[in-house]
Amino acid sequence: MSRVKIAVIPAAGFGTRMLPATKAIPKELLPVVDRPVIDYVASEAIEAGIEHIVFVVSRGKEPIETYFDHQPELEAQLIAAGKTAYLEQVLRPMMNQGRSSFVRQGKALGLGHAIWSARHVVGDQPFAVLLPDVICTGTPGATRRLVELHAETGGCAITVNPVPDGEVHKYGIIRPDSAGPDAHGRVGVTGLVEKPARGTQPSNLAITGRYVLTPDVFDHLETAETGAGGEIQLTDSMVKLIGHGPFHAVVTEDPVYDCGDQLGWLEANLGMARRQPAIWDGLADRGWVTR
Ligand code: UTP
Repeated sequence: MSRVKIAVIPAAGFGTRMLPATKAIPKELLPVVDRPVIDYVASEAIEAGIEHIVFVVSRGKEPIETYFDHQPELEAQLIAAGKTAYLEQVLRPMMNQGRSSFVRQGKALGLGHAIWSARHVVGDQPFAVLLPDVICTGTPGATRRLVELHAETGGCAITVNPVPDGEVHKYGIIRPDSAGPDAHGRVGVTGLVEKPARGTQPSNLAITGRYVLTPDVFDHLETAETGAGGEIQLTDSMVKLIGHGPFHAVVTEDPVYDCGDQLGWLEANLGMARRQPAIWDGLADRGWVTR
């Protein structure tokens, strides 16, 4: 079976829900504790064995490219000052030369259109998609689990998390097959619906922003029409793949932090801070949290 070597990270949206912070700073570069949110996501891709990341960007997103590149003056200054810990942090997110591409999505027409914009760089191979405003926790990482599943099935794979009834309208929701999840949390997918109205959802399993897709999805994205919210939705094209090859979901209970709005971003900061004892203890000392 083919190995997934390339990932697409779509980062061309406006980040409207995080205005005014995102007026001048890409949403994907907002910090979660000590790192931009997209740094967690790119690291997850690398951990999964991805060799090349295609970032889909737009006007004003140039700082993302800068973040993953060298900063020779800064590096030289940190070396001269003996600030090796900072130097490591500056060098860590560096994408090795030739292992990243940046393509432009001229107009923010939707997630499906953003992925389609990467078609010439991806070519005719399976690829991962990671939404850069979503931090998936858990070991092994969500993308690694999908890459491993694809290696077994050769088909599409997505991660899903259970969400309360009151939140299904915010997500793409799967219809699982009647057999239900196996011992590894893997379940066949028989349908997908983007942002269903409460009470109409086929399950409470929400797509959490990690996908492995086969390249035939580009054929459907090519002719895609606008769907929910007037946008070209990735989900609408993924639906068309169901029944034409294996399509599975991995159910995970690991916390997923969607940093796309204020509450989610704040929750992400608390969730990730809890993993850093020095910071969590500091918050506890100041009475913000309990140990
Ligand atoms: P979101 O809908 O969460 O991001 O899309 P957004 O459009 O930036 O957010 P709001 O609704 O305006 O607040 C998930 C990811 O897909 C990218 C976004 O950059 C985000 O990382 N995206 C979305 C694109 O690259 N292009 C699009 O046309 C839409």
